[in-house]
Formats: sequence, C-alpha cells, structure tokens
Amino acid sequence: MQRLYRKRIVLGVGGGIAAYKSAELVRRLRDHGAEVRVVMTQGGREFITPLTLQALSGHPVHLDLLDPAAEAAMGHIELARWADLVLIAPATADLMARLAQGVADDLLTTLVLATNAPVALAPAMNQAMWADPATQANRELLLARGIRLFGPGSGSQACGDIGMGRMLEAEELARAAADCFETGLLTGKHLLITAGPTQENIDPVRYITNHSSGKMGFALAEAAAEAGARVTLVTGPVFLPTPDRVQRIDVVSARDMLAACEAAMPCDILIAAAAVADYRPEVVAPHKLKKDPSTGDGLLLQMVRNPDILATLAGRADRPFCVGFAAETENLLEYAARKLRDKNLDLIVANDVANPSIGFNSEDNAVSVIDRQQHETRFGQASKGHIARALVAFIAERYKES
Ligand code: PMT
Repeated sequence: MQRLYRKRIVLGVGGGIAAYKSAELVRRLRDHGAEVRVVMTQGGREFITPLTLQALSGHPVHLDLLDPAAEAAMGHIELARWADLVLIAPATADLMARLAQGVADDLLTTLVLATNAPVALAPAMNQAMWADPATQANRELLLARGIRLFGPGSGSQACGDIGMGRMLEAEELARAAADCFETGLLTGKHLLITAGPTQENIDPVRYITNHSSGKMGFALAEAAAEAGARVTLVTGPVFLPTPDRVQRIDVVSARDMLAACEAAMPCDILIAAAAVADYRPEVVAPHKLKKDPSTGDGLLLQMVRNPDILATLAGRADRPFCVGFAAETENLLEYAARKLRDKNLDLIVANDVANPSIGFNSEDNAVSVIDRQQHETRFGQASKGHIARALVAFIAERYKES
C-alpha cells in the first residue's frame, strides 16, 4: 500500500448503486497517501452528491466537460495528464460500452481517451447484465486495449439477485490500485534532505552566506521521490522550483534549518547536501551598521559557532542512516574521511569545490563516496541530476545492508 503514497488518482464515479462505496474508496486511497480528484458522470450524481466526494477528496469534484469555470481551474486535458491512474468505480454496463466504443460525450469518457495513465474499471451491475454477451464482448475489447478490470465480485446484489457483478469493496480496490504501481528502491522510506546555503544576518540589510545554489540537494530530492520515497527537503534561500511530490520547507539560517530538520524527524535516511554556515555573527545589529570613524577602515565581527545539524541528528537515539557531503578545496578524501568519523556518519560524499565545473552552482558534479571502512566509490563527471540518481541508488543499497 506504500506504493500509493503521493500517487495521483482520478476517480471516475459512474451511475450505479455501488457509487456509495466510492466515498469509502476516496478515504482509503487518501489514507494510503494518494491524492484523489473525483470526476462524476451525470448518472453518478443521481446516487451520491458531489459535495460528499468533495469533502472526502479535499478538492472540487469535476462534473462537466463544457464548464468554463472548471476548465479554467484544471481543464480536462490537464487532469488527464495529472493522473498516474484513472480508476472508474463503479463502472456500469453503459459506461463500459461507451468506453469500448471510444465515445467521448462527457468529461469522464473524454478524459479516458486523453490520458496516458493506466485506466482501471471496477464493474458494478446486475448479474444478468454482466453475463450478457454484449457486456462480455465489451469486457474483452477493453482488456485487449490494456484497460484493467478490478472485479467484479460475486454475491448478493442490491436488486435481490445473487451472482457476478458486485463492485469490489473499497479496500480491495485500493489494493488493486496499489498493484498498478511498481515498488521503488525507496518506497515507504522517509528521506530528509538539506540543500542550499544558509544566511546569517549581520544587520537588517547584510548577511553572511556562500555559493551554494541548492542544485545538488534539489536533484537528490527529485531522485529520491522518483525512487518512491517520501521526501522532506529543507532548503536555505535558493531560486529553484520545488521538485514534484517533494515537501519543501524554506529556512534562512543554520538554526532555522536545525529546527526544521528536528521537526521533520523521524526519518529513515538523512542526506545533508546543504552548505551550512559554521559561524554566525554573535550579535545581529538592530539597525543598519554605519561606518564608524573610530575603527578606521576595519570592521571586526565577533562570530560564534552554529549548531552542527548533521552531527546533532546523527547523535539522536532515533538516528537515521546519515549521509553527509564534504565540500573541500584541498586534501579532499582525507578531510572527508575525518568528517565521516567526527560526525558519526554512515557515508560521506566528497565534493571537490576547487574545480568550478563541478561543485558550487555548476550544472555538473563529480564525487567520491567514502564509507566507514574507508572504501571509496567514484562517480565521474555528469549532470547533477545524473549524479543524484546514481547516489540515491547507491545510498538505498547501503541503507538496506545496514
Ligand atoms: O548547492 P550546489 O550549488 O549544487 O552545490 C552543491 C554543494 C557543493 C553545496 C554540495 O555538493 C556540498 O558539497 N554540500 C556540503 C557543503 C558543506 O558545507 O560541506 P561541509 O564540509 O562544510 O560540511 C560537512 C557536512 O556537514 C555537510 O553535509 C553539511 O551539510 C553538514 N553541516 C555542516 C555544518 C553545519 N553547521 N551543519 C551541518 O549539517
């Protein structure tokens, strides 16, 4: 069921008595972490109100193809592209027939034609209607086109008959929906990733920072989400869009970053790619500092140590698998290995930032990962996206072994 986490499901509700089970289905899907948008046919609305499904899904229900207001908010093509899965429950005999013919005369049938996502139907109808050769022919046609069928089940029906045609229960449908998705390397794992620089204020207009752009940390967050993880990305001030399906928390200073990371705990794996300021001004001037003739041309700033976020989290009782980064301009591997020991890490990624084509604010990177046994694994120069995917696969492997 962890495979449903952050998956985007369009739930189509057709006009059958089993529509009452769709309300429970929305809840189950959301309980397992899926995001659900509901599309109802005209018939579906006769059995259950859009308001119920809106309340349960947390989003307005999509009803009409030609509704300008709804199209302006999220048009049918956008909805079709948004979906990771289109699940129609209940799918009536009529809806199956229309889908088999490629009819597109309402929002739901149009959306099915427009989507590239897998489509699954949960048939629900009277046993005689299910057994009818027309329905069976439509079933064959739909299956041949790659549309999946969940059920129907057998049992007593709302009309008093007994036989095939009952819609599966909400939990069975949620499980079948989960089976549509592959298990990623990190499915079910929570990754906490830090990225970007921190800013340490001197006065209301000036601060101390560094050259980190956040690109490496954001690429790691994207790769981890692709691998199925739940990702919390705590980032200093950067100008990057949030990767898909990643929970982003923006912070400014090292102390803010520590507080945000502690609030996001527990996690399974921590990857600290942020370039955190080791020191901050002891006192932040309440007003803009003026040139002071008594100090000549100089200005002395008294600095104090910032907390070490990585070492703090690595020292907790609920310590995650800890991966640090070491940005160095000399003695790269030696200094990185020392940080691995001093901060009690599982792995450290050594990053040569003396080379401008890799490291800070570059598109590419090239790194070595060092483990507790001092083994070095080299990742040659490539885009940060490529390096991130390779690192995530490597970290996932080592995490499983640990
Ligand atoms: O953001 P980009 O422009 O893409 O650049 C990527 C990067 C060069 C910033 C990144 O790849 C990198 O090397 N990040 C770590 C930079 C760094 O600050 O390293 P460090 O050697 O100072 O710190 C060692 C580790 O301790 C790091 O994991 C750091 O996040 C962590 N740390 C450091 C100080 C502190 N107070 N708290 C920490 O958690």
